[in-house]
Amino acid sequence: MNICKAKNYQDMSRKAANIISAQVIMKPHCVLGLATGSSPIGTYKQLIEWYNKGDLDFARVMSINLDEYKGLSPENPQSYRYFMNTNLFDHVNIDKTRTFVPNGLEPDPEKACAAYEEIIRQSIDLQLLGLGRNGHIGFNEPADSFARETHCVNLTESTIDANKRFFESENDVPRQAYTMGIGSIMKARKILVVVSGEDKADALKATICGPITPQVPASILQLHNDVTIVADEAAMSKL
Ligand code: F6R
Repeated sequence: MNICKAKNYQDMSRKAANIISAQVIMKPHCVLGLATGSSPIGTYKQLIEWYNKGDLDFARVMSINLDEYKGLSPENPQSYRYFMNTNLFDHVNIDKTRTFVPNGLEPDPEKACAAYEEIIRQSIDLQLLGLGRNGHIGFNEPADSFARETHCVNLTESTIDANKRFFESENDVPRQAYTMGIGSIMKARKILVVVSGEDKADALKATICGPITPQVPASILQLHNDVTIVADEAAMSKL
């Protein structure tokens, strides 16, 4: 694992955006695996800035997102499709028909997951990840085993608690989500993890130094041969 220390959130975002731009410049038709949440927002802002300066071209890029809440439509401001549109896709020249997010409106988990598995047969060149406070990646929550493929998960109390800030009340947070599996994440050629804030310090320590266990889903990243973690000082405070 390549651990890259950043001073703060802004520095982390710039460093992560540098890695993503290098990927897009070196392979303009690359497949990017993307994440939502607070961690990558600064990275997306930086990419948009460089796009506006004419330094980046997303015309041939394809993107595949990690996850989506079950039951939320793309128009719902809390959905991950909406997040991606407003935080990145609407501001760059990516072809939206080549951006993929699981279909939150598909009520049948089997159908939703099978359809997404078809899409992620594409090999991902660079997968961007955030880290959950409980060590989750995508919505792969701590469990007894690592889930290989796209599946429907019941969100844990810790995740519901962490994500309630985006909703009017905790009751509005969906209890289920569709997520890419750990196996699909591990198949990406390169993985980039952005981690910021003291509330991630325990999870980051367990990810890097702890045993590889499905109780800390991100710990599996120790087995991948091209992982870069960009973390700020607060997130690294327990290392
Ligand atoms: C989002 C995702 C999640 C988040 C994680 C951290 O697509 O898959 O794993 O990356 O919950 O969220 P933030 O960045 O909001 O702390």
